Amino acid sequence: MLDGRFITLGVETSCDETSVAFLADAGDVLCNLVASQVEMHAPFGGVVPELAARQHEAKINPLFQSAMEAAGIRPADIDLIGVTVGPGLSVSLGVGIAFARMLGELAAAPCVGVNHLQAHLAANFLDPAPPELPAVGLLASGGHTEIYFVEAPLTARWMGGTIDDAAGEAFDKVARMAGLGYPGGPAIQKASAEAVEKSIVFPRPMLDREGFDFSFSGLKTAVLTYLKRNPGALAAEIAFAFQEAAVDVLVEKTLRAARERRVGQILLCGGVAANRRLRERFAERCAALDLRLRVPSFELCTDNAAMVAKTAYEVHNSTTKGYPLIPAPNLLI
Ligand code: KG4
Ligand code: ZN
Repeated sequence: MLDGRFITLGVETSCDETSVAFLADAGDVLCNLVASQVEMHAPFGGVVPELAARQHEAKINPLFQSAMEAAGIRPADIDLIGVTVGPGLSVSLGVGIAFARMLGELAAAPCVGVNHLQAHLAANFLDPAPPELPAVGLLASGGHTEIYFVEAPLTARWMGGTIDDAAGEAFDKVARMAGLGYPGGPAIQKASAEAVEKSIVFPRPMLDREGFDFSFSGLKTAVLTYLKRNPGALAAEIAFAFQEAAVDVLVEKTLRAARERRVGQILLCGGVAANRRLRERFAERCAALDLRLRVPSFELCTDNAAMVAKTAYEVHNSTTKGYPLIPAPNLLI
């Protein structure tokens, strides 16, 4: 406890971001530090698991020390620890789990295993004003593209998802094909802003099909085919057309899910929810349809430990159990 407030430490190392956060009570993020490994993995065009794990090992304790300093917290103040146990890279997850266990001993605080997907959704509950429930949630990240029927912060029922590549993965692959570098999401977003002609149109895979599944592999192939046939095509035009198609599918399928479930609230989360065009299109469409839209701040969309701390806090204050403290690379909701 710190000044009578319940302190939760969040630890996140599932992929290529090392993050440590302190949460006071239910939603006051005292500090949310993220050490990104993007530059280290960029030459490889993707995350190299062993390098990622080594970097988490090097960064986690210094980051924790900085976080304690920034939030004015000592180990003895920590009441609860939440750590991501999956899904993610096994070796990376192991680093965060070992650190959290060790700290749990040191601070004599209970340690809760957190599902990274639940944590992304939980980012929407950090705001003091809770979202209206039930809601429909879209989680679009580098590893996942899923639609959920969200009944409570820890209760989400899967409605559909990608049958091949994740949305973020498609952004990353298309950026690489167009020579725009890594990570692809921000690169595509930036390049799109420079498009002038905007005459290329890519297909919207599965948009006219029933249900809530996505296919981003088909869209990626369409871009590849276009590039082969038009070797002189401008990267900005490709980026724009791809982003429009990807955003269109994500927005329309999510709205369809909301319509079918008769909910008035949409929740967005995951790294792709940081995309400006996606946020803009959702805002426009939700306003037109009189739906409420909630999107976490940019820092809370991409991987971070504040969302992990929030999930642990919710677990601690419910009858739900945390996940076992062992890496679970393929964990789902
Ligand atoms: O949630 P996240 O940080 O990590 C995972 O759990 O996967 O998501 C990372 C993904 C990457 O594929 C990245 O390219 C994408 O999110 N991303 C974006 C943007 N920022 C990050 N995609 C589109 N537009 C962005 N601005
Ligand atoms: Zn994530």
